[in-house]
Amino acid sequence: MNEFPIERAKQLKPKPDPKTLVFGHNFTDYMFLMNYDAGQGWHDGRIVPYGPLQLDPSTMVFHYAQEVFEGMKAYRRPDGGVQLFRPMDNVRRLNDSCERLCIPALPEDVALDAIKALVKVEEDWVPSEPGTSLYIRPFIIATDASLGVHASHSYLFCVICCPVGAYYKEGINPVRIYVENEDVRAVRGGTGYTKCGGNYAASIRAGERAEGQGYAQVLWLDGVERKYIEEVGSMNVMFKVDGKVITPKLTGSVLPGITRRSCLELMRHWGMDVEERLITAQELFDAAKAGKLEEAWGTGTAAVVSPVGEMGWNDEHAVINGGAIGALTQKLYDTLTGIQWGTLEDPYGWTVR
Ligand code: COI
Repeated sequence: MNEFPIERAKQLKPKPDPKTLVFGHNFTDYMFLMNYDAGQGWHDGRIVPYGPLQLDPSTMVFHYAQEVFEGMKAYRRPDGGVQLFRPMDNVRRLNDSCERLCIPALPEDVALDAIKALVKVEEDWVPSEPGTSLYIRPFIIATDASLGVHASHSYLFCVICCPVGAYYKEGINPVRIYVENEDVRAVRGGTGYTKCGGNYAASIRAGERAEGQGYAQVLWLDGVERKYIEEVGSMNVMFKVDGKVITPKLTGSVLPGITRRSCLELMRHWGMDVEERLITAQELFDAAKAGKLEEAWGTGTAAVVSPVGEMGWNDEHAVINGGAIGALTQKLYDTLTGIQWGTLEDPYGWTVR
């Protein structure tokens, strides 16, 4: 276990009311920092009081978005303990993102120990109200103060945490989504399979448009043929059609979600027929017309499993399962959240105390 020095905060913050937590608003007392410099590699991992970073206005990340991030959670178990869910998967994906963005990889054990050490210091911030958790946001930014377009020579790895409530206050209600014909979030050969800020920046306009039309999320199509389904909002997406589960395969423009992987593994373990392949929007709307589109849901760390009740595409509308949550969607949600919060046994070795 790597150990890191801790600079103690002079004053700790009052904890927010766990019943009214808004996602990503209240940050804890500390953060983890570690620097990278050419010649030195990653060095000086440390835990310091949470606070603003001072950066030169020319800092590369502000201009060319050389940045990657992760999202994960710490959960309060019924026995009072705290656990993480598949944290090494996040560390490995962070390094996969680094590779694409020309950011030097983090030593896996250092990154995992950094996250564990920060959560340990912030243990009291892990809420225990139903559906609440401590959201953990590791990220890396390019810190060279220079406007040349090339890989930075220096970086900052930072981990911050915030207590969060259930992503949807009313519980898991089915949402309305809209197939986006114009904007795309990523293309093959681009950065779609990574978790980098640029992917999210590119997604905001369509998200705002969808919201303006009364939809909660965008259903993304591929950037070349504008025909194949890729993701929903900032989540992976799955469909149950005529008894079979299908999900877009990882072609390079789709994020390899850890909740996606966990759902696929669960369903295969349950003996279900699950296919990762190209799926056209047309086939989904045809299936809906034929009464065969039985369920649809998004998967992601923030909301875990989010049912889709209705899809719009041009003038077509498909209502799924009468707009109610489907049995499989509910079973996935209950199983995953049960394992994550420790109310169910974890036969897969996914949780780490
Ligand atoms: C998730 O579903 O966990 C996401 O990726 C959303 C996050 C960027 C807030």
